[in-house]
Amino acid sequence: MANDTESAISALLAWFAQHQRRLPWRDNPTPYAVLVSELMLQQTRVDTVIDYFQRWLARWPTVADLAAASQADVLAMWTGLGYYNRARNLHAAAQAVMARHAGVLPADDAALRALPGLGPYTVGAVRSIAFGQPAALVDGNVARVLARWTAFAGDPSQPKGRDHIWRVAEDWLQQPVARAQPGAWNQALMELGATVCTPRAPDCLLCPVATHCQARAQGLTQAIPPVRQKATAQLVRAAYAVIVGTPLQGPGVADSAPRVLLARRPEDVRWAGLWEPPGVEGADCLDVLNARLRAAGLTPEPPLGPIVHILTHRRYEVLAVPVHCALETLPDLAAFGYPALRVQALPDALGKESGLSRLAQKLLELVV
Ligand code: ADE
Repeated sequence: MANDTESAISALLAWFAQHQRRLPWRDNPTPYAVLVSELMLQQTRVDTVIDYFQRWLARWPTVADLAAASQADVLAMWTGLGYYNRARNLHAAAQAVMARHAGVLPADDAALRALPGLGPYTVGAVRSIAFGQPAALVDGNVARVLARWTAFAGDPSQPKGRDHIWRVAEDWLQQPVARAQPGAWNQALMELGATVCTPRAPDCLLCPVATHCQARAQGLTQAIPPVRQKATAQLVRAAYAVIVGTPLQGPGVADSAPRVLLARRPEDVRWAGLWEPPGVEGADCLDVLNARLRAAGLTPEPPLGPIVHILTHRRYEVLAVPVHCALETLPDLAAFGYPALRVQALPDALGKESGLSRLAQKLLELVV
């Protein structure tokens, strides 16, 4: 007779077979599609990722296509997904797969781990989902599900607790029913965490493994895992100049859209390589910005905002300073220290693949 863990695993697998969401990367889980989707899904919601994933695979259907793309195009395609290091790593990983593995993603743990940006979670996902290997994985959803299922009293967000949950995930994967379909098993755990065993209000009535759940038996579903103390976010004040030019005039000029001046962020800062309106950070940002604009012969208007933009560890409060001018030539903005400037039609700058940070797009939207 099946032991209790085994029958619970079977129940979850049966539930997943019937209730899993239809997602584009599940239709044809090639190693490359799994890698792209899993990197996009780290930190970003499934609903948001779907469209990005489809456009990405249409543009770069293979590792070789991605490896040959420019970094600017890769970042532009990632516009709005945030955490842009994921895009840079994915691009670098594709180039490493070309150089080291003749364009074929390896199935081997050590070779995958050696690729840029692939940690234990992503390696587990590629090996189990794409290659059917019995490799465990733990993300936030899996950690919560396993912690509740086993009534784990520790904190899976801390190193000791994380190690413990990884050992649980690896142990359970050794059960023959899970080992027989590791990709489905790992995804079933994630799916349960994403759709039923949610952080604040788990829907235990719909849960296929409720009768096996130790936290439920002990009335501890709300207490497990413990709610993490939020680190206080660092406040960053900044002011940006949204320099809008009148539409180009004259015979033969078809473009009637207003244009905006954008600057490329340097390589060694966050949002490296993304485009934004020229800006200044710091307590006196507005004064410094206005002085630099006047020195460049521009006339700053009263600021709009602030816009509040919240990242994991930072809270941005930013002002948008409108500047209207002809923008027929580039003003001298060397004082800002950007490596490059460009003038772009506003609708393109607001588009999905413009290479602007989400904050930069919000600034434009405020002014236009
Ligand atoms: N979250 C991240 N990757 C996932 C996957 N493959 N299935 C379900 N949820 C996920």
